[in-house]
Amino acid sequence: MIQLSKPYITPTEIEAVLEVLNSDRLSMGKYTELFEREIARLAQARFAVAVSSGTAALHLILKALGVEQGDYMIVPSFTFVASANVALFEKAIPIFVDIDPGTFNVDPAALEDLLLRTEKGKVYINGQRVRIERVRFLMPVDVFGQPVDYDAITPIADRWKLKVIEDSCEALGSHYKGKPCGSFGEAGAFAFYPNKQITTGEGGIIVTNNEEIAKLCRSMRNQGRGEDNAWLCHLRLGYNYRIDELSAALGYAQLTHLEEILYKRNEVALRYSRLLAQYDWVKPPYIADYTTQVGWFVYVVKLDEKINRDKVIEYMCSHQVQARNYFAPVHLQPFYTQLFGYKEGILPVTEKISKSTLAIPFYTTMTLQEQQIVVETLKEAVERVG
Ligand SMILES: Cc1ncc(COP(=O)(O)O)c(C=O)c1O
Repeated sequence: MIQLSKPYITPTEIEAVLEVLNSDRLSMGKYTELFEREIARLAQARFAVAVSSGTAALHLILKALGVEQGDYMIVPSFTFVASANVALFEKAIPIFVDIDPGTFNVDPAALEDLLLRTEKGKVYINGQRVRIERVRFLMPVDVFGQPVDYDAITPIADRWKLKVIEDSCEALGSHYKGKPCGSFGEAGAFAFYPNKQITTGEGGIIVTNNEEIAKLCRSMRNQGRGEDNAWLCHLRLGYNYRIDELSAALGYAQLTHLEEILYKRNEVALRYSRLLAQYDWVKPPYIADYTTQVGWFVYVVKLDEKINRDKVIEYMCSHQVQARNYFAPVHLQPFYTQLFGYKEGILPVTEKISKSTLAIPFYTTMTLQEQQIVVETLKEAVERVG
C-alpha cells in the first residue's frame, strides 16, 4: 500500500530521543528550550511556547487573548475541525467564512461581506437571525501549507478590530511575500502530528512577538503556575498541555534538517504537478503569486466536478493507493449541524470545493516510481469508476 503520509525519521532523531531516554529529564528540559528557540527563529517571532498539540496551541492563544463565553470568532469551514473547536472549548461561537476557489483560503471579499452581515443581523444560527454586536476574533488558516493573502485580510481585520490568530498548523516553512507563516497575527500555531512537515509524534507550538501572550501560554500549559514554576503555586486556571522532552528532542532533531525536508517535499510536489499536467480532468494545487515558499503539508488535487470523487477514493484504496477527501466542511459535521442547525448552501464555495478535492499520497521520501503508480491508479480510477 502506498500510504497517504509517512514521517521521515533519520538516525539523528533516534539518537536525540535515546539521549533523552538515557537522561533523568523526560519532560520540558533542554530539548524543549532548543526546539522553542529554533522555531521562534524560523517564524521570526520573539517567543515560542511548545505544547502537547496544535489544538492546545490554538486553545491557549485564544485564552491568552481573553476569550469569553459568547464571543464570536470567524474561521473558515474548509479546515481541520480543531480550528473551530477551540472556540467551543470556551463557549465562544465560531462563525464560518467562505474561501477563495483557487487558494482554498479565506476569501477577503467573503470576510468583508460576513462582517457586514453580522452588523446588519443577517447571520443565521439555528434558523434565527442573530445580530452580533462585535466579532472579536479571526482565525485564518494557511490551509495545506498555502499562505492566506495577509495583505488583503489584515486591513479588514484592523478595520473591524479583530484579534487575529494564525492557524499555521499546516504551514511550517511557508512564506507569504518573503515572511514566514505563523508571524501574521497576534500569535500563530504550528502542529507536529506525524503527517506534518516535521513531527514530534504529538505536539504543537505557539509563536508570538507579544511577551504577555507568551507568558500566559507558558503558565497555562503548566497548570497555571507562575513564571518561576514554583512548586504547587497556581496563579490562574491552567492545563497539562506540556510537551514531553522525547517529543521535543524528536522535533529539534527534525529541525536540524528542515531545509532538506522542505526541499524534498517541494521536489515531490513539482514531480506530481508535472505528471498530472497532461490530464485536463485534474487540477494540481494552485500557488498564488504572493507565496514565496511552500512548506508542503499534503498534496491535494481538484477533480473535474463531473467525476465521482468518492468512487475514485474507493477504487484507489482498494488498489493499494491511499487517498482521502480533504477537507469535509466543519459547518456540516454532525456535531456542528446539531449545535447550530447549519445546512448546505451557506458556504457555496467551500461546499463545492470539498466535493471534488482529493489528497493523494505525499511524503518527504516519496520516489518518482511511487508517484507514477499513484498517478496511474488515479487515472485508472477516473476512467473506470469516476
Ligand atoms: C489546520 C489545523 N489546525 C489545527 C490542527 C490541530 O493540530 P493537532 O492535531 O496537533 O492538535 C491541525 C492538525 O492536523 C490542522 O491541520
